[in-house]
Amino acid sequence: MNEFLEVAVEAAKEAGAALRAEFERPKTISYKGEVDLVTESDRHSESIIVSKLRSRFPGHALLAEEGSRVAAESAKYCWYVDPLDGTTNFAHSYPCFAVSIGLFEDGKPLVGVVLNPIANELFTAVRGEGACLGAKRIHVSPIEKLATSLVATGFPSHQRANNRNIYYYWEFTLHSHGVRRDGSAALDLCSVAAGRFEGFWEFGLHSWDTAAGMLIVEEAGGTVTDLQGGAYQPGGRSVLATNGRVHAEMVDMAASIAERAATSAL
Ligand code: IPD
Ligand code: CA
Ligand code: CA
Repeated sequence: MNEFLEVAVEAAKEAGAALRAEFERPKTISYKGEVDLVTESDRHSESIIVSKLRSRFPGHALLAEEGSRVAAESAKYCWYVDPLDGTTNFAHSYPCFAVSIGLFEDGKPLVGVVLNPIANELFTAVRGEGACLGAKRIHVSPIEKLATSLVATGFPSHQRANNRNIYYYWEFTLHSHGVRRDGSAALDLCSVAAGRFEGFWEFGLHSWDTAAGMLIVEEAGGTVTDLQGGAYQPGGRSVLATNGRVHAEMVDMAASIAERAATSAL
């Protein structure tokens, strides 16, 4: 197995075991913003992952959500770590959350690992080698039309007021089999890769939310762009990940929603 993948999987499994144990216990919650929660478990998971990555790859850059940074000048490799994606779910004992670890090489995704420790689902991908759920290869769904698609979105915990995504949520709900809002962007992306959702979009995600999942979608045969259909880089203003087949239709619908929202026709 690719050494980078092997270490990322080890780190995700160790952190996932800690999260699973802590999920059963009362949670210590504090707030980064009005509804932006953080728990002791976010920090514990991050320390497990970061200490492993730093000791195995001391020359690599690293960016993790709860504050760990290694800014290696002109580093070829950079790790993006979300130690607990779905903190609000975790804090409310809703069993839908993940550990997400992505490695970029020269600015391009190389390895992606997302673990749902409750369902015991491990999603992995290496650039050019496909995407897997456990030991099994996964592929995006064959559905061709938005009208028969199940799609997903999310709402950031910051900037809640005037969040334009509510218009997109409404319109996509009316033109599909439904829109899910599961509360973990990393798992939403993996659900596109596994053919459970045909598409997923969101505004304002951070690099650690999507670095791993975007590669898993692409390696499962899907397409990842911004909502206008342009190139997507983790941390970009919007993301659209689909099975490829409904991509153009979702980009067109997003454009028409944006236009109508701007002219207050919505
Ligand atoms: C959040 C989740 C959620 C998304 C939010 C993210 P966190 O990450 O991915 O699904 O809608 O925008 O901030 O805070 O639980 O790591
Ligand atoms: Ca996150
Ligand atoms: Ca997080």
